[in-house]
Amino acid sequence: MRIIVAEDRAAASECAADVVERFVRDQQRARLGVATGRTTESLYGELARRHRREGLSFAGVDVYLLDEYVGLDPGDPRRFCSVVQRELAQQVDLRRGAVHCLDPDAPDLARECCRYEHVVRSAPIGLQILGIGSNGHLAFNEPGSALDSITRIVTLSEQTRSDNAAFFTDSGFVPERAITQGISTILAAAELLLLACGERKAAAVASAVHGPPCGTVPASALQLHASATIVLDPDAASLL
Ligand code: GLP
Repeated sequence: MRIIVAEDRAAASECAADVVERFVRDQQRARLGVATGRTTESLYGELARRHRREGLSFAGVDVYLLDEYVGLDPGDPRRFCSVVQRELAQQVDLRRGAVHCLDPDAPDLARECCRYEHVVRSAPIGLQILGIGSNGHLAFNEPGSALDSITRIVTLSEQTRSDNAAFFTDSGFVPERAITQGISTILAAAELLLLACGERKAAAVASAVHGPPCGTVPASALQLHASATIVLDPDAASLL
């Protein structure tokens, strides 16, 4: 596992953007896995800047979401699919239809999870972008998830719901369920890139890096991957 501690939050986003840029430039057709959250927002902002100013093209890229809330209205801007459209797809030259999402409105969610697992596994994701929850979650694999878990319906922990409650202050409704790629689905990607910033992530990062790889700290699964990079700002690295 390669760990990079950048000078500050902005430098961490730039460093993560360098990894994504190298991956995108190296291939004609690329399968990029994307996470959502406050942390990745600045990474996508940096990629959009490179697209506008430096001609970084995403025309050959297909992006695959990691997870999605269940229970939000189809037009809700907090759906992760909308977030990726807004923060990335609409800012760069991704082709129409290049954003692949999990469908939380599917009449049979278990079947939808199988469909998505198959889509993601049909050819490996080349580079998977990840964040980490303050409780060590990876995508929406909460503590207690199995290391061999696949795409499935999950119940969100109180910690995750409280961390994300700030996005839902208008309605007061914070989703209780989600669909998420499993830990083994994520580990099937050729390369993993985890970005974490802020003191709030320091304890989770330390457990993920120093603890034994186990489902209690889902992000510790990165230790099992042959090509994983963790990019941190000094606050997130403060307990290493
Ligand atoms: C979210 C997502 C994760 C993300 C994490 C961190 O709820 N499901 O994929 O990595 O929590 O989010 P943030 O960057 O907002 O702290």
